[in-house]
Amino acid sequence: MKAMVHRSYGHLEPAELPVPAVKDDEVLIRVKAAGVDPGAHYRMAGVPYLVRFMGFGVLRPNQPVAGGDVAGIVEKIGAKVTRLKVGDEVFGAAEGSYAEFVVAKEGLLARKPANVSWEQAAAVPTSAATALRAVKAVGPGKKALVVGAAGGVGTFLVQLHEGEVTAVCSGGKADLVRRLGAAHVVDYTEDDLGTGLYDVVYDVYGGRDINVLRRRLTPDGRLILLGGKPKGKLIGIGRTLRAVLLNPFVRHEITMLFVFPTTAEFEELAERLANGTLVPALDRTFPLSETKEAIAHVMAGRARGKSVITL
Ligand SMILES: NC(=O)c1ccc[n+]([C@@H]2O[C@H](COP(=O)([O-])OP(=O)(O)OC[C@H]3O[C@@H](n4cnc5c(N)ncnc54)[C@H](OP(=O)(O)O)[C@@H]3O)[C@@H](O)[C@H]2O)c1
Repeated sequence: MKAMVHRSYGHLEPAELPVPAVKDDEVLIRVKAAGVDPGAHYRMAGVPYLVRFMGFGVLRPNQPVAGGDVAGIVEKIGAKVTRLKVGDEVFGAAEGSYAEFVVAKEGLLARKPANVSWEQAAAVPTSAATALRAVKAVGPGKKALVVGAAGGVGTFLVQLHEGEVTAVCSGGKADLVRRLGAAHVVDYTEDDLGTGLYDVVYDVYGGRDINVLRRRLTPDGRLILLGGKPKGKLIGIGRTLRAVLLNPFVRHEITMLFVFPTTAEFEELAERLANGTLVPALDRTFPLSETKEAIAHVMAGRARGKSVITL
């Protein structure tokens, strides 16, 4: 099968590999589309080095095939698989999804609703599950500011938050975030974060000082940190760690979320896709041979929704 592999950190190249074998609790998927997000870049680059100690491989990547989100057709099932069958159309988390075939744990897949395209389904797993986890942590009825609203996670947050949303993005994307449900838009190129106060600030972009974000909170508001702009090669999440240490000493509640999605989250997202309350915003699609370009496009930081690799 054709695959995009990184046998050492920092090098991504096309390769011809055998189709992977299926363990008892796994299914083999014929990949139709695979999502691209900053995580794919960090796992490929192995920088910041902290990534390597999070189970991805200290000296070289444990999983040589890149990619982590998938949509495709079940081709084969393991002996203990009970929920899925050959021919099912699924989406979810599958390490090594930038390939013609990938294996995935049955528990990390949900059925793709018929009204959703392969590209839309592949856009969902990491980004939408992260947004869903964040809005569940906050609950309904809160006035929210979403910083980085037009990107992969942000376009899902704007749709999933159950309360009034003000979206922060560059001006050219105001139409997109309004269409997704934002009541107000702040163009950060003209007015940074604006002047309003919010019950919750979701920081997806990750490039501002914590105190700049806290100034937009009501006295007992909550700051949810989802993204970060890694500084330095070692740990890269210094801002987030400092914020968590600050938490006990300030009235605002500061929460850092690092999401490994669950079956229940994928099932809920599938339901929302099926009933039309969640519609992935697609940016660009790339063929497998242009995976490097797809990752570079996302890492340029100007995303308008999600980019996806199609096979
Ligand atoms: N916590 C977790 O488990 C988790 C899961 C997934 C992703 N993440 C992290 O979340 C972050 C965002 O991921 P993503 O997939 O949403 O990235 P993305 O698709 O690249 O989106 C980033 C967005 O930020 C906007 N932006 C750029 N400069 C900005 C600024 N100064 N102020 C406000 N917005 C700005 C960009 O568009 P415009 O500038 O044109 O508005 C873009 O839409 C990354 O750091 C990623 O690693 C964390």
